[in-house]
Amino acid sequence: MTYILAIDQGTTSSRAILFDANMQRAGTAQHEFTQHFPQEGWVEHDAEEIWESVLRVCREVMDSTGVTPEQIAGIGITNQRETTVVWDRATGQPIYNAIVWQDRRTADICARYKQAGCEDDVTSQTGLLLDPYFSGTKVKWLLDNVPGARARAEAGELMFGTIDSFLIWRLSEGRNHATDATNAARTLLFDIHKGEWSVEICDLLDVPMNMLPEVHDCASDFGHTTLLGGKIPILGVAGDQQAATIGQACFQPGMMKSTYGTGCFALLNTGDKPVTSKNRLLTTIAYQLDGQRTYALEGSIFVAGAAVQWLRDALKIIETAPESGELAQQADPNQHVVLVPAFTGLGAPYWQPDCRGAIFGLTRNSGRAEFAKATLESIAYQTRDLWHAMQGDWGVDTEVTLRVDGGASASDWAMQGLSDYLGAAVDRPVMQETTALGAAWLAGMRAGVYPDQQGFSKTWALDRRFEPKLSAEDRDAAYARWQRAVAAAMAF
Ligand code: G3P
Repeated sequence: MTYILAIDQGTTSSRAILFDANMQRAGTAQHEFTQHFPQEGWVEHDAEEIWESVLRVCREVMDSTGVTPEQIAGIGITNQRETTVVWDRATGQPIYNAIVWQDRRTADICARYKQAGCEDDVTSQTGLLLDPYFSGTKVKWLLDNVPGARARAEAGELMFGTIDSFLIWRLSEGRNHATDATNAARTLLFDIHKGEWSVEICDLLDVPMNMLPEVHDCASDFGHTTLLGGKIPILGVAGDQQAATIGQACFQPGMMKSTYGTGCFALLNTGDKPVTSKNRLLTTIAYQLDGQRTYALEGSIFVAGAAVQWLRDALKIIETAPESGELAQQADPNQHVVLVPAFTGLGAPYWQPDCRGAIFGLTRNSGRAEFAKATLESIAYQTRDLWHAMQGDWGVDTEVTLRVDGGASASDWAMQGLSDYLGAAVDRPVMQETTALGAAWLAGMRAGVYPDQQGFSKTWALDRRFEPKLSAEDRDAAYARWQRAVAAAMAF
C-alpha cells in the first residue's frame, strides 16, 4: 500500500494525517502547542516548539500505523498562513518567536502607510489591504526591533518564511528555501498578477529581497526529508484555507467554501481572473497548478472557533467545544443576546484592528445557554457579512451553496443556524478533513498516485445539506441586530 503524509500545521495544533492510496484516512496524530500573549494584541508561537511538534506528530502517526518511509510517496504541507518566521541562514535558528497572523502589533505601521496614501498601490499588486494580519509589516517589525536584525538581513544572513517555508527548510535540513504561490500571496510582498515578489513593495516595507523564499506551484518539488527514517519527497504545499478549497473540490468559478477553525475563512473561486473587491474582501490565489493561477475572493474572520474556545477556557461554561451546540439549543428564544467576538479586532469586511469584543442584550435571565447561542450565532452573522460582500463583488445568489468544514461544521445546530441566517443551502461533506486532504491530494497527484482534478472532484460526497427554515423577516431582523451590535462595538 502507498500512502501520502499530510502535515497540517495550524494555529493551535500540529497534526499529521496519513492517507492511503484511496485517499482514506489511515491514521492521525495531533499535538497542541503554547500560545504566547506577551502584550495586549500580541500573539506569538515558538517556532522551535512548532518544529518539534511537527516532527513528533509525523513520527507518531507512522509508528501507530506501522507505515514505513518507503511506503510514503510524498508529503503535503498545509499551514496557518501569514505567521512570520525569520531565521538565521547558517544556524537555522529563529531570531525571535514567530509572529502569528492574529497579532496586531503592526497596526500603527499599517496606519502610517495608509495615511501616506500607499494602500491602493499595495492592494492593486497584492490583492490585500494594509492590515497587520499579513506578513509584510511583521517582517518589517522584526527587522526594526530585534537588535542587529536589519544589518544581518542586509548582509544576507537571515531568511524569511511563512510556516510552510520554515518547515520545508527544517525538513530538508537547510537544502530548500521555498514556498508556494498561495502562501506567498498572503505576505503582502507578492504581486499576484505577475506571480513574483514585488520589488516596489519590498522596498516600501524595507524588506531585503535576499530573505525571500523561491515560489513554486502548489504541486511541485519542494525537496525531500530524511528525518523520518528514510527519504521522502515534499510534493505539495498550500496555505490551509487554500488547501481546504482544494479539499472541497471548489475547482469551478462560483464555487465557495467556508472553514470554521480558529477563525472562519470563506473563499470563492473566481477562475483565472482576479476580481477586485469593492467590499473590502481580499483577492488572493486559490491555487497554482502547472504555472496557471486560479484566483479567489476571500473573506477572513479572525474569531470563529476561537470564540467557542473562549466559552470553554475563559468563561468555563462548557467543558468541550461540542457541548456549545447542545447548550445553545436550551437558550430562551425570546432573548436576543448578541456577541461581537472582536477579540483580536475585526477582519473582513470591517478591517478594524483596534476594535474589541462586546456583548449586547443581556437580561437577568441570560446565562450559559444564551452565551453559547450568541457565540454560535456570531459565527453565522459574520459569514453573512462575507456572503453579502461576495454578492456585491461577484453576484453570489441564493442558488449558490456553501461547502463547509472545520471544527464548528460538525455541529448540526450551528450549521442549521448558518443556513437560516444566510438564507442559502449549506453542504457538509462526508470527508471533513478537507484541509489535510487538499494538501495530500496535491502531493499524491504530483506523485502520480491520486487522480487528476476532475477525478478528484468526483470523490467529493455530501454528508448533509442544511436548508434555510427561518422566515426572511426573522432573518433580516436578526441580522439588523448584529449590524447594530457591530457598529456599537466599533464605536466603543
Ligand atoms: O489566515 C489564517 C489562517 O490560515 C489560520 O487558519 O485554521 O489555523 O485558524 P486556522
